[in-house]
Amino acid sequence: MTVPTLLSTSGLKQDFVDRLLAEAANFTEVLSRPIPVVPALRGTTVAMMFFENSTRTRISFELAARRLSAEVVSFTAPTSSVTKGESLRDTAETLAHMGANALVVRHAAAGVPEAMSRWVNLPVINAGDGRHEHPTQALIDLFTVSRHIPKVSGLRLTIVGDIENSRVARSNIWLFSGLGAQVTLVAPGTLLPAAVDSWPVRTTGDLDSILPETDVLMLLRIQRERGAGARLPSMREFQMRFGIDERRAALLPDGALILHPGPMNRDIEISPAVARRDNVLVGEQVANGVAVRMAVLYMLLAGGDDD
Ligand code: NCD
Repeated sequence: MTVPTLLSTSGLKQDFVDRLLAEAANFTEVLSRPIPVVPALRGTTVAMMFFENSTRTRISFELAARRLSAEVVSFTAPTSSVTKGESLRDTAETLAHMGANALVVRHAAAGVPEAMSRWVNLPVINAGDGRHEHPTQALIDLFTVSRHIPKVSGLRLTIVGDIENSRVARSNIWLFSGLGAQVTLVAPGTLLPAAVDSWPVRTTGDLDSILPETDVLMLLRIQRERGAGARLPSMREFQMRFGIDERRAALLPDGALILHPGPMNRDIEISPAVARRDNVLVGEQVANGVAVRMAVLYMLLAGGDDD
């Protein structure tokens, strides 16, 4: 039997996605109970392997595992033997030998979670690898949208910001377009990847004209840690052309939703006043993160899902 993994949203089957959304809805109910814990993964150990900084992803995976009664061991690169020259492979194998039942992996280099899934015979979940993918964030975004707009097919998703450096953008593009949504990217040309012509998306630099045709607006920050700052004349210029202020938010149709995976840079991609609006679902995304990650851990570790 092949060990299940979640490395990418590309090619996820509709059945898997439907079941995951249903499980996430169940776990949302669990999380609303006075004691928000179920015994589903009692006796299993989930290893968190974060080689790159994280606030919400790491904490929400940890909470998700604990709410399922799994044990959690946390590995952080700066305090580990990686600083003594230990390889990624030896690090992963060490955790497997100690009896970890799943690895949750974040790394600044694309492909590390996939490599680990070949090195150890355990379920591996990609918690963000370089510019490549962040599948659980996209599933959270899909779950959050589907609580407000049940029919994803035909939905108009507009993603604005640093597409080139964003794994969140890539995972959302594969997921939403695979489910029949119409995806439009809005970015300066220097922050669009060279391969964008072969992606299932439209692109435009004209934000104001696409906003009235948008059901879900997803904002991304400029990833300066990946050198994006050098591709822009200035942050101020980016904010003027692509930032969402009150005027631009008013161009959206009634009922449109605004998403942001966090961390937000207020006054750049989103103004503080817009960030306070009711249709900005950042808090819901974070809350849903725990339920969706519970669903992912449950399906991979206990669900017998070998797809
Ligand atoms: C994102 C990430 O790390 O990919 N954050 C997250 O996980 N919610 C996006 C970002 O860092 O801008």
